[in-house]
Amino acid sequence: MDMKSKIDALLKEAETSLAQATSRESLEAFRIRFLARKGSVATLFDEMKTIAPEERPTVGKLLNSLRAQIQSSFDGKIKQFVQDHHHDKRIDLTLPGRSRFVGTKHPITQTADEIKSIFVSMGFGVADGPEIEDDYHNFEALNFPPDHPARDSQDTFFLSKNLLLRTHTTPVQIRVMEEHQPPVRVIMPGKVYRNEAISARSYCVFHQVDGLYVDEGVTFSELKGTMISFIKRFYGSSVRYKFRPTFFPFTEPSADIYISCFLCGGKGCRLCKQNGWLEILGCGMVDPNVFRSVGYDDEKYTGFAFGLGIERIALLRYGIDDIRLFYENDIRFLNQF
Ligand code: DAH
Repeated sequence: MDMKSKIDALLKEAETSLAQATSRESLEAFRIRFLARKGSVATLFDEMKTIAPEERPTVGKLLNSLRAQIQSSFDGKIKQFVQDHHHDKRIDLTLPGRSRFVGTKHPITQTADEIKSIFVSMGFGVADGPEIEDDYHNFEALNFPPDHPARDSQDTFFLSKNLLLRTHTTPVQIRVMEEHQPPVRVIMPGKVYRNEAISARSYCVFHQVDGLYVDEGVTFSELKGTMISFIKRFYGSSVRYKFRPTFFPFTEPSADIYISCFLCGGKGCRLCKQNGWLEILGCGMVDPNVFRSVGYDDEKYTGFAFGLGIERIALLRYGIDDIRLFYENDIRFLNQF
C-alpha cells in the first residue's frame, strides 16, 4: 500500500473509532492508539524514512494534515465529554426534584367514565341527544301531560314556548326509541340544566346518566338485578341497598334506590342527614304511555329505565360538601383527583 492510501485508511479508522469512544477509558485508549508518541500517526511519520526523498514534501503535508485532523476531532470530542459530565458545584443534588404539573381528568368525567364502563360491560351501548330540547321530548312524550304538576319539579330554562334546555337526560330515551326498534339497551350520559337557586347543593347545570332496556318480556326482577350489580360494582360488594316506591311520570311502577351510608355505615351522620341511607338513583318499568308515544307495541314490549345524577354520586363518593367546586376550575381542588 502506498503512503497516500495508508493515510486515508488511518483517517477512516480513527473516525470510526472516535465515534465509538463514549467513556473516559475509551477516549484515553483512542488517544494512546492514534495520537501518543508511539501511536499509529507517529508510526506513519516514521515511515517517511522509507520513501523516496522527492515524495517526502507531499507525503509530509498529507501526514501533517492527518495529524491535525485527528487531533482536532479528538479535542472536540473531549470538550463535549467534559460538558456532558461536568457537575456544577453550585447545584445541590440533595434538593428534592421539582414536580411537574400533570393534568388529570375532572372528577365528574372520572365518575361518568366509571359508570359508563360498568354498563358497557353489561352490554349497554352509549347514546346522546341534544341539550336544547323541545317540550315534546323533555315532557310530553315522557307522559308529563300539559299543566301536570310534575313539571314544576323540574325548574326549566325555557328558550321559547316550545324550546328549552333539557332538564334531564330522559328525553334521549324517546329519541333512541324513535330511531330504533327493540331490543334497545343503552345508557345516555349528558349535561342537564335546571333553573334553581345556586347553592352548595344545587347548580344550574349538572350531569346525569339515563339507562333504558326494552325487549319482549323484560321484568322488574331484571331491573333489580341490573341495578344491584351496578351498585355492587361501583360501591363494593358489601354495600347494603333498598328500593323504595316512588313516582315518575315515565315509569310505572317506580322506585328510588338507597344505599347504606358509607361514611357512618348506616348509624347516621352529617352525610346521610342522620338517617343512615343515601338516595343514589331513580328507576322503574317504562310506562306504556311512553311506548305509545314512540310507536312501540305496549302489549308486546316491556322495559326498564333508570336515571342517576353524576354530581350527586361524586359528591357522596369523595365527601365533597359543595357542588359549586366542580365548576370553579380551581386547580387546588382538581389536583386532588
Ligand atoms: N329523569 C329523572 C330526574 O331527572 C331521573 C330518572 C328517574 C330517570 C327514573 C329515569 C328513571 O330514566 O327511570 O329526576
